[in-house]
Amino acid sequence: MTHATYRTDVPDWTSAPIGGLIRHILERHHEYLRAALPRIEGLAVEAAQWDDKVLALQRTFLELKRELESHLWKEETVLFPLVLALDEARAAGRPAPSSHCGSVANPIRVMEFEHDSAKRALAEMRRITGGYSATGDASESSQALYAGLAELETDLFEHIRLENDVLFPRTAQLEGRPA
Ligand SMILES: [Fe+2]
Ligand SMILES: [Fe+2]
Repeated sequence: MTHATYRTDVPDWTSAPIGGLIRHILERHHEYLRAALPRIEGLAVEAAQWDDKVLALQRTFLELKRELESHLWKEETVLFPLVLALDEARAAGRPAPSSHCGSVANPIRVMEFEHDSAKRALAEMRRITGGYSATGDASESSQALYAGLAELETDLFEHIRLENDVLFPRTAQLEGRPA
């Protein structure tokens, strides 16, 4: 498969239906986190037996895991249903539905704040591990843990980029506010 062929499979999320973008975030990124977070937690427990550095890493990771689990729940039960309702109203030519959150800008602000917190945790874990570079004498479990965290970082950066830079500005437009 050529690179060009591959690229045509990627929708342009700035113009694709917003419901498709939300489905992509749920299926690609939320499901990934639900599988990866407990898996990495298990790797950290194993690696902590061999590597002192892992104890500090474990604290930051467990806090991030706790925050992300609550973050996913808020997006899935509050923000995303609100975005879909706004999209439906806009398509039907109806006024924006009212919400107990007031403007959708309010839950978006909370999500952006939590994204910043997740990025700080990722930066801290990268610092503790010296850029996830396992030294030659690192145990196999430390190497697996570092690889898992590096993958988590890559996925979470893309997940946050799609929400902050694409989904949230598009949602502001649905509500009739400047992005
Ligand atoms: Fe998300
Ligand atoms: Fe998010």
